[in-house]
Amino acid sequence: MFQRLHTFRLYVVIILLGGLGLALLVSGALRATAAPGKLPGKPGSDKAPFDEVVNDYSEDLLVEGRDVFRYDTFGSEGFYGDVLRLHDAIQGEALGGEGPGVGPATALAVGLKVDANALPDDLVEAIQSGDVDLADPATTVALLQLDAIVGVDGVFDDQGQLTSMGITCALCHSDVDDRVAPGIGSRLNGWANQDLNVGAILSLAPGRQAIADRLHVDVPTLDAVLATWGPGKFDAEVLHDGIALRPDGGSAATIIPPAFGLAGVNLHTWTGFGSVPYWNAYVANTQMRGQGTFYDPRLNDPEQFPLAVESGDWNKRSDPDLVTPKLAALHYYQVSIPAPAPPPGLFDPAAAARGEELFNGRASCASCHVPPLFLEPGYSMHTAEEIGIDDFQANRSPDGMYRTAPLKGLWTHMARGFYHDGRFATLLEVVNHYDSHFGLGLSEPEKQDLVHYLKSLGDVPLDDPGEYAGQ
Ligand code: HEC
Ligand code: HEC
Repeated sequence: MFQRLHTFRLYVVIILLGGLGLALLVSGALRATAAPGKLPGKPGSDKAPFDEVVNDYSEDLLVEGRDVFRYDTFGSEGFYGDVLRLHDAIQGEALGGEGPGVGPATALAVGLKVDANALPDDLVEAIQSGDVDLADPATTVALLQLDAIVGVDGVFDDQGQLTSMGITCALCHSDVDDRVAPGIGSRLNGWANQDLNVGAILSLAPGRQAIADRLHVDVPTLDAVLATWGPGKFDAEVLHDGIALRPDGGSAATIIPPAFGLAGVNLHTWTGFGSVPYWNAYVANTQMRGQGTFYDPRLNDPEQFPLAVESGDWNKRSDPDLVTPKLAALHYYQVSIPAPAPPPGLFDPAAAARGEELFNGRASCASCHVPPLFLEPGYSMHTAEEIGIDDFQANRSPDGMYRTAPLKGLWTHMARGFYHDGRFATLLEVVNHYDSHFGLGLSEPEKQDLVHYLKSLGDVPLDDPGEYAGQ
């Protein structure tokens, strides 16, 4: 009797526990479905209400930062439109602007990209079947009206007349996957635009006397300098130091780097000017010529940065400030973009594995390029001498050194060469340089193995670049 009662009680307990478990499972599932997109964590990690606050904040920053990166001009219309009048060059005389105008074919030829996801389906079809007049400036204006030219924001009046234009970060730091046509596809945020010829674009500007004045040169001299830049390059220092050419007469522009794979990286730019938020403020204020606040007393040096002193760029204060309120979200988004690892087929995994051993071992690359960040945690700066090159570009920065390059996603920007000015056309040339500079004694197959390893680096494997586009 007692025995049976005991068993009965045990059954009740088991049923109750089972019911409780089921209830927990159901409520868990309900919570999961009720809160789509919430960040997963360890079991129980969502019990602290402040975690939810953090999660929500993080999602808001990411989305806001992405919008800033893609679409925010920071008030740069005041320069690219009102002063340079690039919008007049785009429209051409026939549409109320100046000169012959810029059709989409020319725009694509100077490396501008078109966001296919901003186009209506019938327009995509028309482009694919060759029914769109790519020579007509009116088509470019229509693309601007659709907000479809990556990194360029047109300002229109009530009559649909293009009255000004500004630029965004995406102009230089986004590519597209070419899914519709070359230069027309889904956005690849953070990828370096290797085709963008900023020099050629600025040469089209009717108002570029303003840049010439600032540099104390005439317009033909300015045009000659801009012509040295070429695709995928820009000079982010010339407005401050006035140094337009290398001592050997070559271009002083640097490669436009990717703006991905930067989480955990302390110093940014080829010469380590500062952190991501430092550089974002520098670019938005002094290069995009947006309206905001930028302060760096290191640039208040009449010897090294005479034009930053003359223009007051080292201590810029605009009212209203259209930059500072966006820097937190922009920073957050910037460090959230992973460096894509290459799709299969782009490198030989067995060779890359041998290359990895060399990289971390005998070739001692990893002493500076410390995996998985591929630069030194801490102050990752080196003298020109240490890496066996000249110090021209290093001396254009406050610390006079080069920053260890973070290496991830190299395969996405192979077209314009490597090192800050693209002096090494291929990764093999880079490896050859190290081989002789450090006396590594690498065999030819070993050099190839290192190249395969370098090509393989990235944060997130990419099967199909299109999959990641338009995010
Ligand atoms: C006109 C082209 C252009 C525009 C527009 C531009 N950048 Fe850059 N960006 C460059 C170039 C060139 C460099 C390298 C500068 C150097 O090393 O002197 C660079 C460097 C960077 C870096 C450093 C990358 C690294 O490896 O450390 C980041 C981050 C960055 N830009 C983000 C931005 C953001 C955010 C914006 C918008 C506020 C922006 N850029 C606008 C051309 C551009
Ligand atoms: C003493 C530190 C140091 C060592 C050792 C070193 N690197 Fe570098 N690496 C740098 C610096 C600094 C740069 C940036 C050069 C510049 O800005 O022009 C760089 C740039 C590069 C680049 C070009 C990246 C780009 O985006 O253009 C590659 C590739 C590279 N290193 C690979 C290697 C390999 C492979 C080894 C080993 C054989 C190696 N590095 C050893 C410091 C180092």
